[in-house]
Amino acid sequence: MKDSSQRIPKIGVMDSGMGGLSVLRELLALPYQAEFLYYGDLANSPYGEKDTSRIIELTRAVCHYFLSKEVDAILLACNTATSAAASKLREELSVPIFGMEPAIKPALLAHENERIALLATAVTHREEKLQGLKADLGAKERILHLNCDGLAHLVDQGDIEGARKLLQNILKIPKEEGIRGLVLGCTHYVFLKNEIKELYPEAVLHDGNVGTVRHLVKSIHLDQVSGKPSYQLHFSSEENPNGIRQFAIQLLERGL
Ligand code: DGL
Repeated sequence: MKDSSQRIPKIGVMDSGMGGLSVLRELLALPYQAEFLYYGDLANSPYGEKDTSRIIELTRAVCHYFLSKEVDAILLACNTATSAAASKLREELSVPIFGMEPAIKPALLAHENERIALLATAVTHREEKLQGLKADLGAKERILHLNCDGLAHLVDQGDIEGARKLLQNILKIPKEEGIRGLVLGCTHYVFLKNEIKELYPEAVLHDGNVGTVRHLVKSIHLDQVSGKPSYQLHFSSEENPNGIRQFAIQLLERGL
């Protein structure tokens, strides 16, 4: 990181929409001086049902926006963007790029001798990153893949009822099979924890947000300057900017 002793670190945090705010919320809860620039690419969301090449293109454009603002590091607070684009962008860009990883490892450890279920977008399920992680953990047979197409969009819209209905369907199989360990492999779904617990009270939820934040803090030494973090919000959608901003602040402060 450049000049960390002289200036407040500036970190770009991106997602296809509102999901990355669940990670920003964790960052803002820390007592470290840092400036977070959040970018939600709502005009192009959801990413999770797009081609890999298109997701790389969109994520690259957001990263270039961050570079124009002279960030010191970028966090892809989106499992989909991380799966599709992180390794490519790490080769291309000069600042450290951090990403998300579904919390499969802690979930497997917490549910020894049981299967677990992964809720994620089609892209996260199909990309090499997840296949590699599963192979490393020797866990291919222990993971039930639950494709949650449409769910992130409902969170972006603040449509809790729609999300609840879709979740009712998604959770049928893990409930029938008695799979309790659910990995929330998309940052949007973290905002649906209450709904998931209501629909499936026996479920134990795992997400990668805290682990990612811990890794980011350590890697770029954010914990060296104590103080209060600040943030700015940017969204690519031009429709109803005030409403979007208010909804984003609500998500940061209270959740869905
Ligand atoms: N929040 C994103 C993730 O973590 C995905 C949502 C989308 O489909 O755009 O995967």
